[in-house]
Parts: sequence; C-alpha cells; structure tokens
Amino acid sequence: MKYQIGFLPGDGVGPEVLAEGRRVLELCGRIFDCSFEITEGAIGGTAIDRYDSPLPPPTVDLCRASHAVLLGAVGDRKYDSLPAAKKPERGLLDLRTLLGNYANLRPVYVFDPLADSSNVRPEVVRGVDLVFVRELLGGVYFGTPRHRDNIRAVDTEVYTADEVRRVAKVAFALARSRRKKLTSVDKANVLETSILWRQTVAEVAQDYPDVTLENLYVDNCAMQLILKPKSFDVVVTNNLFGDILSDEAGVLAGSLGMLPSAAIGGFAALYEPVHGSAPDIAGKSQANPIGAIGSVGMMFEHSFKVPEAARRIQSAIAKALDNGYRTRDIYSEAASNQKLVTTRQMSDAICRYIEHPNEG
Ligand code: IPM
Ligand code: MG
Repeated sequence: MKYQIGFLPGDGVGPEVLAEGRRVLELCGRIFDCSFEITEGAIGGTAIDRYDSPLPPPTVDLCRASHAVLLGAVGDRKYDSLPAAKKPERGLLDLRTLLGNYANLRPVYVFDPLADSSNVRPEVVRGVDLVFVRELLGGVYFGTPRHRDNIRAVDTEVYTADEVRRVAKVAFALARSRRKKLTSVDKANVLETSILWRQTVAEVAQDYPDVTLENLYVDNCAMQLILKPKSFDVVVTNNLFGDILSDEAGVLAGSLGMLPSAAIGGFAALYEPVHGSAPDIAGKSQANPIGAIGSVGMMFEHSFKVPEAARRIQSAIAKALDNGYRTRDIYSEAASNQKLVTTRQMSDAICRYIEHPNEG
C-alpha cells in the first residue's frame, strides 16, 4: 500500500525542522519497506501571502486525499493585526477540524542526558515519561458566541458529554497500554463544563476498572507537574488546559523543541512538533528538529502501524543526545562533552544512528 502524505512546512522554523522530518520519513520508509508519496501544501502565513487564506482550497484538497499530514508550524507577528478568521493560527484550527482529529497526543519523555538541561532539578525530571491527551476540537477555542468590540469581548467554553467521552476513551485505552494511571484535569470547583467533564470521565472509567483514575484541578496540576512530574502517566484535559500544560511540560523535557505530537481520531492523523514557529530563530539553522523527527516516529506508529520504526527513531534520538549533540535550546555551556550543532547536523546524527542502530 502506498500512503499519501500531506507535507505542510508552514511558517518560521517550520520548513527547517520539517525538512529533517522528511529525511527521517524517507529513510525509515526505505528501511522498513513502507512506501509513500509526499505532496507539499501551503498553510498559515505562507498560505496567506500566496492565496490570501491560511488554509487555501488546494491544501484542503491535499489533506482530504492524505492518509497522514506532517505539519511544521504556523504564525508570525506580521499577521498580528489581521482579524481572527484570517490569522495563520486559524489555518491550523480549521485543519484540525477538517481532519476530525479530536485527540491530541503529546508525549513528554525526558531523555536521560537532558535531565541536567531542565530548569527543574535533575532528580525531579529524570525518568519522566507521561502523555497528554488534549481534547482538540472543542472548548473555548471553538465555542460560540464569540465576539469583541472595544469595551467588551466574549469567548465561550462549550463541551458536550459526547465530546468528553470520545477523548476520555482514547486516554483510558492509552493508560491501559502503559502504567495504568489516568489523571483527568479540570476546574470543576468553578466551571460547569468541568463538572460535566468530570462526571463523564467517571462514567467512562467504569469500562476501565484496571486503570486508576485521579482528578486534579488545573491549577494544582500545573504545580504538581513541576513538583512531582514522575507521578503522571496519562493526563487527559480540555483544549485550553492542554495547550497551556503541554508548554509547561516542555520545560521538563529540556526544551519545547523536544516534544512531538499526533492528533488522532479523524480520517487522517496530523503530526506536528509542539513548538511554534519561533520567528526569532527562523532561518538561522538553530531550531531543534527532534520534535519534528519524533512526530515522524509517531506517524510510523499510529498511521503506518510500524512501531519498530518508531522505536528505532526514538533510540537514534537518545543516542545523538548520549553522544553530546545539542542544538542551542538544549545546550548548556557548563556541561562537558557537548557539541553545539545546527538543525541539519542534529538530524545527520539521528539519521546515522537510524541507519546503523548498533553504532554509538
Ligand atoms: C499548539 C499551538 C496552537 C494551539 C496555536 C498555534 C493555534 O499553541 O498547538 O499548542 O493553541 O492549539
Ligand atoms: Mg500551544
């Protein structure tokens, strides 16, 4: 079977990191005998410049015909003054909706050699291995009414029980395949949507008696993530809380540039690094490609069902880090045996360890 892949580099560092993701995709395709056709499309600011739309019709058609979509990043300050419906970010939100991906998996894995790079103490972060399951198509991101004038603005948080149930099922199933602990995060002491969230998660829990369910308020969760990150296995939460907490968790991993993600549940999954377009370092070959490369690993696991490729990618990343390769975001001057490398050099090292898994 030949997979169709939509390839959307987007803005800022998106094209740089995605070029390295593509290399790994093609390399693992050859090694694991998986064939695909990669077709490039425009999204975000790049698409606004070319088509006057952040998700133009050719990109919609491309994604509709794809089995999986790999995306870099969207956004640039130069579009700040555009109305919300025309901003680069709208392209990404509309793409998630188009594909129907309601569950966003954001693993946070602390590679051992990076335990010292985190701003949180090494003994606290060493061994962290958790996954956020962020609801991606609902909540305040999409709720109506939504309105703004110069003296008053309104956003609306809406969730139906069905929306909560389907993402909760993904999270329970994932927890079942891991350490069997699920933390559901809400603000049920204040918000109606959170009360429904908590009730619905409790109902779904009946079908997963082997999984331990814990409920945390989001403010407490934000604190526990820094105090006791190893106490988490799978964390399920709404769209907004998931957005915020996953950036916070990037600190544990040493840099947001480390985090991959997969948005699943629709007809074609969407893979993208969690980090944004980072316009300040765009074009400087400084961006960390590991989030993008890890997202390709997730593609092999979830879309192509080739978990060996995902494991090979993961251990190649670990080896590159073990051998001291560091992009600027994870480089620490104090540590010895570190090589400050460019985006391309990091991916050179990772590709080498993918091809020669017994080296290093
Ligand atoms: C993310 C990003 C997006 C979000 C933006 C770019 C719309 O921050 O994927 O975390 O808020 O979902
Ligand atoms: Mg975010």
